[in-house]
Formats: sequence, structure tokens, C-alpha cells
Amino acid sequence: MPIKSICCLGAGYVGGPTMAMIASKCPDIQVTVADMNEQRIAAWNSDTLPVYEPGLDAVVASALGRNLHFTTDIRNAIAGADLIFVSVGTPTKSFGIGAGRAADLRYIESAARLIAEVSEGHKIIVEKSTIPVKTATAIKSILAANSPHGATFQVLSNPEFLAEGTAVEDLESPDRILIGGETTREGNAAVEALASVYARWIPRERILTTNLWSSELSKLVANAFLAQRISSINSISALCEATGADVDEVARAIGMDSRIGPKFLKASVGFGGSCFQKDLLNLVYLCESFNLPHVSEYWRQVVHLNDWQKSRFVEKIVRSLYNTVSNKRIAILGFAFKKDTNDTRESPAILVCRDLLLEHAHLAIYDPKVSEETIRQDLLSAGVSPDLIASNVEICSDPYSAVTHAHALATLTEWAEFRTLDLSRIYDLMLKPAFVFDGRAVLSLDALKAHGFEVFVIGKGL
Ligand SMILES: NC(=O)c1ccc[n+]([C@@H]2O[C@H](COP(=O)([O-])OP(=O)(O)OC[C@H]3O[C@@H](n4cnc5c(N)ncnc54)[C@H](O)[C@@H]3O)[C@@H](O)[C@H]2O)c1
Repeated sequence: MPIKSICCLGAGYVGGPTMAMIASKCPDIQVTVADMNEQRIAAWNSDTLPVYEPGLDAVVASALGRNLHFTTDIRNAIAGADLIFVSVGTPTKSFGIGAGRAADLRYIESAARLIAEVSEGHKIIVEKSTIPVKTATAIKSILAANSPHGATFQVLSNPEFLAEGTAVEDLESPDRILIGGETTREGNAAVEALASVYARWIPRERILTTNLWSSELSKLVANAFLAQRISSINSISALCEATGADVDEVARAIGMDSRIGPKFLKASVGFGGSCFQKDLLNLVYLCESFNLPHVSEYWRQVVHLNDWQKSRFVEKIVRSLYNTVSNKRIAILGFAFKKDTNDTRESPAILVCRDLLLEHAHLAIYDPKVSEETIRQDLLSAGVSPDLIASNVEICSDPYSAVTHAHALATLTEWAEFRTLDLSRIYDLMLKPAFVFDGRAVLSLDALKAHGFEVFVIGKGL
């Protein structure tokens, strides 16, 4: 049976853009994205989308009101759908068994319970959220035990591999689509129904089908491998600083080996985002649960290295500024966890700013897309006191006001606009000696030195 109506629970960074792409590519399928967050739904229905992604406005505009709908009426959305994506958050559990490592599956469970309660007939349920292996078993048993109208279900795993900042490109032309299902006749039919939705714009050879557990696990493993590459090159960045080697030259030399490849070898202040750390910790916990301590310890190191990279960046700033940043103004350029997104979840900027504030620095923060409210809230959630935030944090509307009378400047996001900053003007505005700590290697080292700055670039030394 071809799919005529799709619903997605969760209108976040994944649910919104993914469904907008499906709706724009499949005008004959009605796509409804449902979320209880009224503010988010109102924003999706307005001219200011809640998620910033290059090209997303046009994709949403092409289908909104035609076959793309955003609603808070979750029950009706479920009732009317043949296929339901579950794209709710799966944050790291902060309490109880597995706290700090395991995935918190409460949103998945309550979504499954609601689907069971409301559904009639046959529905395909698709895990879009990133979840631990075997979650499909839990979803199936909740659905089977709580369905008053005798509905039947097939559960599929279809993890999302989009990267924030390039979500539209990634959805339009993904490296692969992964669909896992039960290896039964009904399971195969459900896999084919979903595959044929994607096949409207994605070549069949890029649509991979596997069993449920391989699909669930592959998402965690993909993120673990990506994060591992960043921690690997970051570990080498410290050795480069100690020895006089240049991390970019090393990355280039090893990346030309076709077995290694050039991508994800950029040293930086560390990885962030809502996924890498969470999914690594999730993998660590899974390995612990299956009594594989050597495997879990191996992956835990990737997270440790990332934490160390952030703290040694702060230490470098403090030591360079004569061992005290108390009452010194430090300009922070970039707060998002990467360029081209307004997402700050797990952004290295949060911990760097927190630790500088705990040293009583005054921070002048500029980010082109992150709101003042988000920055203040993130610092509060990271444990900085409201008083310290009120007295020592200034949010600036442009980079030049941030650097005015600053002792130092630190880049924490690789926004393209930082590459074209007027370095002479910045040098004139800053106190001397003017220090630059380029945590994202966005500025030209040679140009900075030529202008007279004292420069620290990760993997290159001061
Ligand atoms: N952000 C990414 O780049 C990315 C990439 C790939 C996979 N993922 C995974 O996708 C999932 C979603 O991530 P996100 O970044 O979109 O999260 P998000 O926090 O931006 O969005 C989740 C949304 O789900 C809503 N929600 C919770 N319970 C619900 C329910 N029962 N019914 C309807 N809506 C409900 C919340 O209100 C929230 O708006 C996570 O598992 C994440 O790991 C994220």
C-alpha cells in the first residue's frame, strides 16, 4: 500500500527539516509535523523558522499549507497517518541508573503510548530519533500492550544522518538512507513502503536496508567514528604545539592517504552539538550493559579527550594573559557549536565561557545567529551564577564592539564572516598586547602576526 499520509512526532532540528524535504519532494503525500511545544509550532508556521539552516526557508515555503502542516494537535495527526516518524529528543539521562551515559527514553516511551492509544487499523512506526540498540523491542511491546482499538504495527528504524548547518543539502542528496526492519513478509513490506517514499528523489542504490538492530546500531557507530576522528586530530594538536609541528600540515599529509581520507581532520577547541557526546555516551553505556568494559573504555576516551581539549584552551588563555583574566575583557566570537546553525547544544563555547567567567573574566560575546536569551540561558544551565552572568557578560551585536578595549579575542565558531574581519581595525580597538586565541583556525595566522597580534592557534602554538 503506497503511503498517502505521514505524521512526525517532534518538530525539532530533525523532524522539521526532514519532513519539509519529504513534503517538498512528494506533493501527493500529506505530511503533518506535530509537537506539544506551541511556540515551536507557531514559529514553523511563521516567517521566522525556529531552526536556522541555509536553504530551509525555501523548502518549507514550497510545501507549507499545501501538503506540509505543523500542528500541536498530536492525536489527530497520529490518527490520520499511515506512517508515523518518531523524532523526539533522546538526551543523556541525568538521574538514576545509567545517569550521565544512558539515553533518556521517556519521550520515546510516551510517544509510543500515545500512538498505541490513538491508532486504529495498520500503521508503520519509524524510529527517526537516535536510540540504543533494541529500542524497537520496547516500542513494539508498548504498542502491543496498549492498543484499545486493536491496531497493528510494524516498527522500522530509519536513523537520520543529516549534519546541522548542511541539513538541506544532506536531505536533498544524502550519502545513504538506512532502513532497518523485521525480516518477515510484513517487515519487508513496511521497509519497501518507506523506501519508496525516499526513492522519489534518492537513487535506489543509496537506500540501504538491514535488520532492525544493525540500523539502530549503525547510527551510534557513525557518530562515534566521526567524533573519534576529531578527538584523534585534537590529541595530535597538543603534540604539535609541544614539538613545533603544524597540525594542518600533519592532517594534510595523513589525509592524502586514501585509506585515511581528508575529512574530519580539522583540529579545534573540540566538538559540540546535541549528538556526538550523547551518542558516544550511549554507546559506552550499551557496551557496559553488554559486559564489554574494554570496548566501553575505548570509546569513553573520545569524550575525555574532547573535554580536555576545551579545558586546555581555557588554561592557555589564562596562562598567556599573565595568569589572570580577572576583570579583563575577552571578546568571544561565535557561540553556536558550528557555523551555519543557531544550535548551541553542547557547544564548546559554553564550557570555555563558563570557565573564563569562573576566573572572573568579563566576556563580550558576539554570534551572528544565536540569541542573547539562549547565550544567557546556556551559561546559567552550565552552572554560572545569575549575578556573575549579569555583571560579567555583555552580548554584542557586532564583532567590533566586542573587541573594543578587549585584552584578548577568542574564536569559538568557524563562521565565514570571521574570515573577512578587518584585522587592522580590530588591532586598533584592542588593548595591547592584543591576544588572539583562534579555537577554530578561522583567522589567517600570517595576517594576524603581520598586524602585531600575539596569536595562539590550536595545533600551532603561540
Ligand atoms: N540535531 C541533529 O543534528 C540530529 C541529527 C541526527 C539525529 N538526531 C536525533 O534526532 C532526535 C531528535 O533530535 P532534535 O535535534 O530534532 O531534537 P529537538 O529537541 O530539537 O526536538 C525534539 C522535539 O520533540 C518534541 N516532543 C517530545 N515528545 C513529543 C511527543 N510525544 N510528541 C510530539 N513531540 C514531542 C519536543 O517538544 C521537541 O520539540 C534525537 O534522537 C537526536 O539524537 C539529531
